[in-house]
Amino acid sequence: MTKLYRFGISLEKQLIDSFDRHISEQNYQNRSEAIRDLIRNELVKKQWSEGGVVAGVIVMNYNHHKRELVSRMLDIQHDFQQLIISTQHIHLTHHDCLEIIAAKGRASEIEKLANSLKSLVGVKHVNLSISSVGEHSH
Ligand code: NI
Repeated sequence: MTKLYRFGISLEKQLIDSFDRHISEQNYQNRSEAIRDLIRNELVKKQWSEGGVVAGVIVMNYNHHKRELVSRMLDIQHDFQQLIISTQHIHLTHHDCLEIIAAKGRASEIEKLANSLKSLVGVKHVNLSISSVGEHSH
């Protein structure tokens, strides 16, 4: 089992009050869990900025009636195939498709993939979310 360490933090009352309000809005059970997430986020940001290997998910919404778009989107995905772990396609409505692309690699490469998809005509929305791959994150 992972060893847990305890440490104390001194904060101004005003800061801890607004932090408590913030974490209760986010449904955290306690401060420790919220602070753990803040630390993890900082470490992921550091990996991102230092060009380390990260895991990322691209969520995109597009109109599949733009036939040219679908084939260009697939071309781009094949250009980045060494980065892409998995894709999922969901038919949202008669017109709209949702595509979820999971990737693992250098943050800058995953960003490049997301930006290429974003630039296609007919793509309504692209969101990139980055997470740690779990190894060497300390
Ligand atoms: Ni579809």
